[in-house]
Amino acid sequence: MKEMIINTCIKVCAYDEFSAADRELIDKAREAAKRCYAPYSRFGVGAAVRLADGTVVTGNNQENAAYPSGLCAERTTLFWANAQYPDVAVDTLAIAARSEAGELARPIPPCGACRQVILEVEKRYSRAIRIILFGTDESYLVEDGIKVLLPLCFDADFLE
Ligand code: THU
Repeated sequence: MKEMIINTCIKVCAYDEFSAADRELIDKAREAAKRCYAPYSRFGVGAAVRLADGTVVTGNNQENAAYPSGLCAERTTLFWANAQYPDVAVDTLAIAARSEAGELARPIPPCGACRQVILEVEKRYSRAIRIILFGTDESYLVEDGIKVLLPLCFDADFLE
């Protein structure tokens, strides 16, 4: 039997280690988390996307009394960005979360469905998306795109 070893690299950073542009994006995600609609989980998630032309788009989680009808912050934001700017690639996605007690010390990783959508956006524009997961104690920087968080992924290549 052979083994397949998949290596991934995630940088663990303090807020101050990010560039000014990244800090601005992180702050927009943090602000967006405050505008969430999360009456059921009371868990707010904000996302901010910087497009290749510098445009910044933000969004947050939108819940529903019929729980599965709600949508995560990442997908709300990416779908909106792609709907408004279909010809512009996504460069960086920043995510921040908060509970009723305030911002979280540890970063929250995107859920599986959001990872799959991030993958689709990368394929659509043939460009890896930088991903920043913010926490007040430490943040994660994924520079090489969603394959780091979603190894062995299913994409349109398999449909050919
Ligand atoms: N949520 C997100 O918005 N993004 C994630 O990556 C994980 C979870 C939302 C969905 C739901 O509104 C709340 O957080 C609790 O799961």
